[in-house]
Amino acid sequence: MTYADIPTTWAPAVGLEEGPALRIVPDLPTALGRDVLPAEEAFEQEMVVRRVVPVTHDVLTVVLEPTVSGSRLAFDAGQYVVVGREVDGAWTERCYTISSPPTRPHLLTLTVKRMPGGVMTAWWHEECRPGDRVHVRGPLGSFAVAEHPAERYLLLSAGSGVTPTLSTLRTIADLAEDLDVVVVHSARTPTDLVCRAEVEALAVTLPRLRVHWICEEDPEGTWYGPRGRLTDDLLATLVPDLADREVLSCGPPGYMMGVRATLARLGVEPARCHEESFVLGAVGAPPEPAVDPVDPVAVVPEPRPELAAAPTEALVRFGRSGLELRCPPGTTVLEAAQQAGLAIPSSCGAGLCGTCKITLLDGRVDMSHSGGIRPREIAAGAFLPCCSTPDGDIVVDA
Ligand code: FES
Repeated sequence: MTYADIPTTWAPAVGLEEGPALRIVPDLPTALGRDVLPAEEAFEQEMVVRRVVPVTHDVLTVVLEPTVSGSRLAFDAGQYVVVGREVDGAWTERCYTISSPPTRPHLLTLTVKRMPGGVMTAWWHEECRPGDRVHVRGPLGSFAVAEHPAERYLLLSAGSGVTPTLSTLRTIADLAEDLDVVVVHSARTPTDLVCRAEVEALAVTLPRLRVHWICEEDPEGTWYGPRGRLTDDLLATLVPDLADREVLSCGPPGYMMGVRATLARLGVEPARCHEESFVLGAVGAPPEPAVDPVDPVAVVPEPRPELAAAPTEALVRFGRSGLELRCPPGTTVLEAAQQAGLAIPSSCGAGLCGTCKITLLDGRVDMSHSGGIRPREIAAGAFLPCCSTPDGDIVVDA
């Protein structure tokens, strides 16, 4: 049987029935709390682990509390933080999407899947205990519903890429927003569905939330919903008004590649498609199973041929240290700084995480980022040295 053969009544979406007497407003672009929640602001401090909660057989949620009295993290649902601590004698930093909603800023939750060979995930799963401390910096990223006001949304995810969806749904519920949202989430098996009971409960109380789960395998023979990978036919069946929705996708590289192609074939405008993946796959790599977890650990920068286009060597001056160095054509500002022994904090090295963001004091750069910086930050003079080459001599605030 293919997905096209599946009668829609055979795999009903959770939340299809309209809920009890809740206020329904006309379709309007949403600010998802922008009008009532504190504006995003920089946060950096040690946080203490308050609880570690098992979620599935290989996923846990860790609840973090600020150590600075009265401090709160103001962020948008879908953003992430950089978490650091010493693991096995070495300082280790990883990016994690926040799974709690910004409506509960006094506690932060991260939902972490155990990754084979992952140093940090091994620490979370084997050693982390209440009372442990981690260093948290953020919020970062622009993968947020609030960044893309629209009348309707489709949230696509696979594996642990569900975390921004969790934060978004919890925010919608806390704010009692009547947002039209369809969630389509892929997992390997039914036991890999993260926070399934909670999401289904939200779909009962939120009148315009529909949730579709897809499982690749069903080893226990208990799954009655769609099986296999997300296909064009299945997505078109589950979300017939797909082209009218703002689409936010999060998952491992193979899944994202497949989603990109599917959305294009189904006629969704590229400008309406937004994505997040902490693992950047090689362009042209074959599709992978849709359920491989997002590993926020392994970040492999894609080749950036466009960065090799800078025609001449440029002089880069670091305003704070007074250091000056030559940046050869095709060399990013970050690479030049590292070669000169100047430490600029960085993580992904690919214009994705925003960790390396600094201010350009003079001159111009050619930047090719992947969502790690917002237009308003660029307008304010910030840039990402990991994905920027100088366009002539520059002065930076570092
Ligand atoms: S290091 Fe991640 S954006 Fe530069």
